[in-house]
Amino acid sequence: MPSARTEDFLATCASLTDNALEQRLPPIGQEPDRLHAAMRYSVLGGGKRIRPALAMAAACAVGGQPEQALVSACAVELIHAYSLIHDDLPAMDDDDLRRGRPTTHIRFDQATAILAGDALQALAFEWLAGDTVLPAETRLAMVQTLATASGSAGMVGGQAIDLGAVGQALSLEQLEQMHRRKTGALIEASVRLGVLSVSAVAARPSHQEPLDHYARAIGLAFQVQDDLLDIEGDTSVIGKPQGSDAARSKPTYPALMGVDGARAYLATLLTQCQDNLSGFGPEADALRGMAEFVVSRRY
Ligand code: IPE
Ligand code: IPE
Ligand code: MG
Ligand code: MG
Ligand code: MG
Repeated sequence: MPSARTEDFLATCASLTDNALEQRLPPIGQEPDRLHAAMRYSVLGGGKRIRPALAMAAACAVGGQPEQALVSACAVELIHAYSLIHDDLPAMDDDDLRRGRPTTHIRFDQATAILAGDALQALAFEWLAGDTVLPAETRLAMVQTLATASGSAGMVGGQAIDLGAVGQALSLEQLEQMHRRKTGALIEASVRLGVLSVSAVAARPSHQEPLDHYARAIGLAFQVQDDLLDIEGDTSVIGKPQGSDAARSKPTYPALMGVDGARAYLATLLTQCQDNLSGFGPEADALRGMAEFVVSRRY
């Protein structure tokens, strides 16, 4: 179970992120009103803010403060919100509940949901590129990192594999590729952006490699636990329809290796996360705690 310290850290990161998003998103009433309302609805309607917390924890691991990673945290969260809006559309997972509320296309309409996702994606890069604190070279590296993680080599590519694999039996290797892209890529980018928020691009510090390995393991673990929650979770707790994957014959870890196999794999991934942090001191405690949270979360 995650410690009280991790719960506190997550709450602090979520509150910093929520406040910044609330202030920076186009206000309700600004034209086009319906589009901006849908953007705000999707981004501000709860969410665990795991990716922001990981960016902030990574900033701490390299000697920085959570606040230094705030712009990165917000940018990643915009991409995440856009991915969820599109993931829930009838053409994709066709889900009507997200974060305990109607999905964006149900609350608004499909066209508005598609456009809100598009606009959030663009806004993420606008915010990163337009940061007034970081040097231009760092911002360029951040934009590239987030773009690669979002596109066909990352989240969008993973979603394409996911949709193309419905009803098929994937090998473990194929499943890992799919998960790594659709979910892992953005989580890996969160950690990298957190590091970039603090340390100069040119430095390419020696700790980058273990942090990349940590991020890869926690990214996979996040989706394995998401797949398990689809089976074992409670709709009222997870805030999205339990059983959605099974109903649509989605390729998932429990479907391939059974619930016990998926749990065992999760334990292996947690060990990998912690092993990769062994060269760090207490400055990486937030990352350690996040790994525990990800594998034991109930929502
Ligand atoms: C859900 O992500 C989608 C996946 C990538 C599995 P989260 O579980 O982080 O969703 P929120 O932001 O907390 O609602
Ligand atoms: C989707 O995975 C991940 C992305 C949105 C990129 P899922 O389809 O499993 O996410 P949930 O379960 O709907 O949140
Ligand atoms: Mg999906
Ligand atoms: Mg889905
Ligand atoms: Mg899922």
